[in-house]
Amino acid sequence: MTDHARRILVTSALPYANGHIHLGHLVEYIQTDIFVRFQKLRGHQAVYLCADDTHGTAIMIRAQAEGRSERELIAAMREAHLADFGGFQIGFDHYGSTDSEANRRLCGAIWQSLRARGLVTSRDVQQLYDTKAGVFLADRFVRGTCPRCQAADQYGDSCEQCGAAYTPADLVDPVSTLSGTRPEVRTAEHLFVTLEQMHAFLDEWTQRSGALDPRIANYLAGHFLCDPLRDWDISRPAPYFGFEIPDAPGHYWYVWFDAPIGYLAATSEWCAANGGSFESWWHRDGSAPAAEIHHFIGKDITYFHTLFWPAMLEAAGLALPKQVHIHGFLTVNGQKMSKSRGTFLLARTYLDHLDPGMLRYYYAAKLSGGIDDLDLNLEEFTAKVNSDLVGKVVNLASRTARWLEQTGLATDYPADGGLFAAAAADGTAIAEAYEACDFARAMRTIMQAADRANAYVDAEQPWKLAKAGPESAAKLHDVASVAINLFRQIAVYLAPVLPAFATQVGDLVGGPILSWEESQRPLTGQPVGSFRSLMRRVEPAQIESMLAASLAQAKESQAKAPTLHTATNQPPTKGTMSMDSAASPIDSGEALAAEPLAPECTIDDFMKIDLRVARVLAAEEVPEAKKLLKLTISLGGDATRTVFAGIKGFHTPESLVGRLVVVVANLAPRQMKFGLSEGMVAAASGAGATGVYLLSPDSGALPGMRLH
Ligand code: MSP
Ligand code: ZN
Repeated sequence: MTDHARRILVTSALPYANGHIHLGHLVEYIQTDIFVRFQKLRGHQAVYLCADDTHGTAIMIRAQAEGRSERELIAAMREAHLADFGGFQIGFDHYGSTDSEANRRLCGAIWQSLRARGLVTSRDVQQLYDTKAGVFLADRFVRGTCPRCQAADQYGDSCEQCGAAYTPADLVDPVSTLSGTRPEVRTAEHLFVTLEQMHAFLDEWTQRSGALDPRIANYLAGHFLCDPLRDWDISRPAPYFGFEIPDAPGHYWYVWFDAPIGYLAATSEWCAANGGSFESWWHRDGSAPAAEIHHFIGKDITYFHTLFWPAMLEAAGLALPKQVHIHGFLTVNGQKMSKSRGTFLLARTYLDHLDPGMLRYYYAAKLSGGIDDLDLNLEEFTAKVNSDLVGKVVNLASRTARWLEQTGLATDYPADGGLFAAAAADGTAIAEAYEACDFARAMRTIMQAADRANAYVDAEQPWKLAKAGPESAAKLHDVASVAINLFRQIAVYLAPVLPAFATQVGDLVGGPILSWEESQRPLTGQPVGSFRSLMRRVEPAQIESMLAASLAQAKESQAKAPTLHTATNQPPTKGTMSMDSAASPIDSGEALAAEPLAPECTIDDFMKIDLRVARVLAAEEVPEAKKLLKLTISLGGDATRTVFAGIKGFHTPESLVGRLVVVVANLAPRQMKFGLSEGMVAAASGAGATGVYLLSPDSGALPGMRLH
């Protein structure tokens, strides 16, 4: 190994204890696990830490609905999470809980630092209180009529119809989704962290430390750091399932305060069990050689990990992450995971039907280290696993191992036309790709080596040599020895992705794969075990039955869904996944009747209009114009345009900055009284409504993408 042993502390986000692990979560845990296993294989000291995230309103509500205590609920969920992670060979070095004594102690210590730095303040907050359920309602648990456009059944923080942002107390006719009753407005004191005092530090750390992908750094600069940072509401009044704040009785730390501190608590627990000191990982002047901290998270929790968390660490004088690796979201067959399509796939359901190694490989083949969303296309999954893992990798051994059962490997590595040496030389590029979390590139390079190895076997035709009789025995032995060496070399490279497979290969030949260096030297003279099939082809029927099982589960859990009191609505689950409503709304024909369809056009006509996704960089009022806002939009890179859009009154300039829109990008520029308009923003309007509604692409779309 060329680089010295590093000390690397790696975390995945702590999964909420209020739900089971699904294939979306596994994008993160598999990715992190591959990174950690790679580092260990390279001889570094890597420690993989995680924990359940146990506190907060959602847990309280679920426990209440299930008629058990929060602690019973989180204990049961912990078992389920550990079983799911174990099934996918996620090798945590320690799995803690945010509801631990270590975490309580560390929360207290960080809190003291924040207080000592004068970063804590308090003020009254108005919140809706559900008197029947006995809880303060988070914005998402309240629905009511939009105070601006009067649209019914909107969430407590914003209106999906007109985009207005407000507080739940502003809603007309608010209803608690927990009890169906009308909540009352209560005033309670909350504690805040005055983040603005850390502004200069956050500017520096986000933009210049190298911990963040430049795209994320720009996003933070353009969305948060360009304005004064708002105070962060860090406490919740009783009743709340969490830790009571020692110097503020009756107040509890908000779950997002104690959750990341769970990373510290897990470190402290791991050290207690395995030796080593907490300080050596997290203190800036730790006595041991400097440690690297790597967090892996999904894009939905970016600002907690790139603003709040570094600010907390800085205030406490602790080490800052070397890198925050941020990934996108999982879609299945190109769409959001959906219970009604059976694609809301739980880890457990997958494990009942398919080999975990296959998903690990498929994710690895699609992850290139960026924040783009990742699609699990089940047809592609089947094809890729069958062609790469079964057809290329396993096939190498299944075609050749049996001829070595009696004899073992050749005592001198035979001439192989440079194949082993070529794949050994690839090791540097493969390792660089793993290090950069560009697992897709690593997999491509490995599969090219597998292609070359298979071409060798195809050319040498060992099955013919076997039939040819004793005079070909020596040649057969050489060919099989080469093939099995190339096979094991590939297994070394794949070991971070396919740990169970690597163990099986070690059992077949050469013993456990413990070091990357084993890819660099062929084995000679070793016994070869009897070959058992290491992985079977995926049959489409297996996928079908997995989807059917998933669908059946979704229906069953919907039927038995715990209802609280007279609940009319389930508390929404977090993330991008939601139960799609079975009934579609009945829409009036008014808009279509008022504006009949335009004459037919051809696809060529349509293609003349170049519609693109764009991001609004800036928006301002045009004082002289009643309807116009002036927008600066980006088509990606340096391509920006100025567009005047007739949406004033329906959208405030602030609400537009940062959002994606659709523009006619090749419209001839038009000189207007106020300036040159270089395009048109797509928006819907018409009879039956008075508004103008901007179009937004699904998440994952990026500026510059064309609409087809
Ligand atoms: N409890 C918080 C994290 C606290 S970290 C101090 C949380 N939990 S979560 O269970 O909702 O998500 C755990 C991780 O899984 C997050 O990083 C999240 O982004 C990721 N994912 C959850 N659903 C996902 C997809 N559908 N796709 C990809 N990653 C997803 O957030
Ligand atoms: Zn509205």
